[in-house]
Amino acid sequence: MSDDYRFLVVGAGALGGIIGARAINAGVPVWLATRTAESAAVLRSSGLQVSGIGGTAYAAEIQVAAVREYERAEKFRLILLATKAHDALEIAPFLVTLLAPDGVLLPIQNGSVSQLLADRLGESVVLGGLSNLGATIIEPGIYEQRNAGHLIIGELSGGLSDRAAKVAGVLGKAIEVRVADNLRGAIWAKLILNCSVTTVGAVAGQTMRQYMMSATGREVFRRAYDEALSTALTIGIQPQRMIVDPVPPGWRGTTVVSEEYNRWVDRVMAGYGDIKPSMLQDFERGRRTEIDFINGYVAELGPKAGVPVAMNAAITDLVHSIEQGKSKPDPGRLDELLKRTRSECPAP
Ligand SMILES: NC(=O)c1ccc[n+]([C@@H]2O[C@H](COP(=O)([O-])OP(=O)(O)OC[C@H]3O[C@@H](n4cnc5c(N)ncnc54)[C@H](OP(=O)(O)O)[C@@H]3O)[C@@H](O)[C@H]2O)c1
Repeated sequence: MSDDYRFLVVGAGALGGIIGARAINAGVPVWLATRTAESAAVLRSSGLQVSGIGGTAYAAEIQVAAVREYERAEKFRLILLATKAHDALEIAPFLVTLLAPDGVLLPIQNGSVSQLLADRLGESVVLGGLSNLGATIIEPGIYEQRNAGHLIIGELSGGLSDRAAKVAGVLGKAIEVRVADNLRGAIWAKLILNCSVTTVGAVAGQTMRQYMMSATGREVFRRAYDEALSTALTIGIQPQRMIVDPVPPGWRGTTVVSEEYNRWVDRVMAGYGDIKPSMLQDFERGRRTEIDFINGYVAELGPKAGVPVAMNAAITDLVHSIEQGKSKPDPGRLDELLKRTRSECPAP
């Protein structure tokens, strides 16, 4: 890899740290950007160390600085944006100024981030992305890869492109990268599952398998899922298959509960039923969640598309009140969601 393909990873957290370390190990010239000069100094002395699935990686010598210091640096051909969603929206306009004329910004957050950035900054600079890699940060510079996942990248307007292929060629040396010709469909497939599987679990303080044992849990899941799927289909997005067909069997604009549907739910549960929701970890650590880019995005788009989204709106409000310390994750939250939305949701 020649040094003229300059690649910057912004955010040396769980995903950025692992991708950065694996890229350095693969001989890709990589620069890393942290929020502050202090964090950069810590990483400069610790290096990057990865364990877990995909094998170990260690990069002792890393090129790292606070993001604003790159203002004076040579321009980059690729900037991988690996911060949380709110930080991504805040820093992205600055990052565009660090790009070479043919450079691309690749956000990999969940939910609406890629689309919002493309709307604000232009699709000519933003390539869409999402991550199916599971990663955690143990302490700054020390990371664990939790699954054999991959990045999915592609054009938000659909189709294949040379620049997506080029980015996949570079990043693919470090981690598995798949190019999707229906990237929005891939993003929405994950978004719909995040709106239901993950967020419902977070507010209940349970895994999907636990909350699906109650009729209330099953109804909240179904309504959150249905609303998000209806929104996607109404705005012209065909969600891509992940582990199941995103459209449940017997779908008629809403779910029709049947034995076939229950088997479909079992397949969703086999893939995601025992995972502790990442948003629950955010609650436990007192961190701001990414709800506005997940259920909040559906709650915003639904009314514009004429789709009722009462459950996603109620979940969004509830998550905000948990963030503010006014409520706590508990299975009882699901009863509250049903009571609050029953008059506005169609019966199964
Ligand atoms: N981890 C996963 O398994 C996974 C899987 C799929 C999707 N995702 C998504 O990927 C995104 C990143 O997740 P993550 O788990 O890697 O998050 P993370 O561990 O919290 O890492 C984010 C990093 O970005 C840094 N940062 C924030 N603002 C910055 C700025 N302006 N300039 C430079 N660095 C900045 C943070 O630094 P500070 O500590 O100073 O804030 C932190 O080190 C999230 O949207 C997440 O939902 C994650």
